[in-house]
Amino acid sequence: MQTLAQYLTSQSLPSSLEKLIFTLADTSKTISLAVRNGALAGVLGATEQENIQGETQKKLDIITNDMLKESLKADLAVRGLASEEEDHIVEANNEGQYLVCFDPLDGSSNIDINSLVGTIFSVLPMQKPVSQGSLTEQHFLQSGRHQVTAGYMLYGPSTMMALTTGQGVQFFTLDPNSQEYLLTNDNVNISPDTAEFAINMSNQRFWEAPMQTYIDELLLGTLGPREKAFNMRWIAAMVGDVHRVLSRGGLFTYPADHKNPKKPFKLRLMYEANPMAWLVEQSGGKASTGYENILDIEPEHIHQRVAVILGSRNEVDICLRHHQGDN
Ligand code: AHG
Ligand code: MN
Ligand code: MN
Ligand code: MN
Repeated sequence: MQTLAQYLTSQSLPSSLEKLIFTLADTSKTISLAVRNGALAGVLGATEQENIQGETQKKLDIITNDMLKESLKADLAVRGLASEEEDHIVEANNEGQYLVCFDPLDGSSNIDINSLVGTIFSVLPMQKPVSQGSLTEQHFLQSGRHQVTAGYMLYGPSTMMALTTGQGVQFFTLDPNSQEYLLTNDNVNISPDTAEFAINMSNQRFWEAPMQTYIDELLLGTLGPREKAFNMRWIAAMVGDVHRVLSRGGLFTYPADHKNPKKPFKLRLMYEANPMAWLVEQSGGKASTGYENILDIEPEHIHQRVAVILGSRNEVDICLRHHQGDN
């Protein structure tokens, strides 16, 4: 099995980008250990602080954010970073060519029940020269099409990393003995059709009409237009749900809802939706808000939220037809 190092060498990436991927991979090993130690290390539970999204931060949200912030700031390739747990962008190194957006701990409500969590990352190029002035949020506001690397680490029964640099999607599994990431799937492919969907059904009454009718159709099973019984899964960690979709197909959505009129969307564009959308596209699937391709959105804010529909392309297309009023 190829190690991550051997795999990256074969890809002829710019050496600074290769090094940056190592920084992320190495930090995830420390995060994996902290997550695995759980109560033994006293890292479970919540703090009294809130992040900019108004979510109460778990201890591990802060610990993992600090780990990534520290290692990325020490990487000379990094110009700056944006994180779910940082209200504002953070400057790193003046000469750095890359900007890193990350969700240090996705699914953090799962941490206290010893269930799936992960880390999501998206790397953007530093496009505009920072003449005299300092780095601004403006530098980060690039569509997902500009990503040069994206992926996630999943801290499950095994620790895994999904990676794309624009050459398909690869899965690596962390060998607990050697602490090396080993290539375990070099050609992740999402089946175009599926009979599995993922949505938080408890929000049903708050969804818009197109999602209501689409899900109603799935629930009809063999009596519905696709004449097949659909199964449902919900991990409450996007990283786990997307990993399932990449592994065996499916449709995952966190649609718009009017539960809280001030907050119609849940997932964040720059460090949740964009990296996952690119991974999904790179494995033959599709990702949309219902009305536009996620990767085409021109961001207005680093913490901006969006509706997300992604996965097996034929099923996503059917869902999109409902949004276009064709069903
Ligand atoms: P985070 O833990 O980083 O704040 O993200 C949680 C997100 C996402 O991972 C998951 O799909 C969704 O929130 C779960 O939402 P519900 O609590 O509505 O199930
Ligand atoms: Mn959160
Ligand atoms: Mn998240
Ligand atoms: Mn998070």
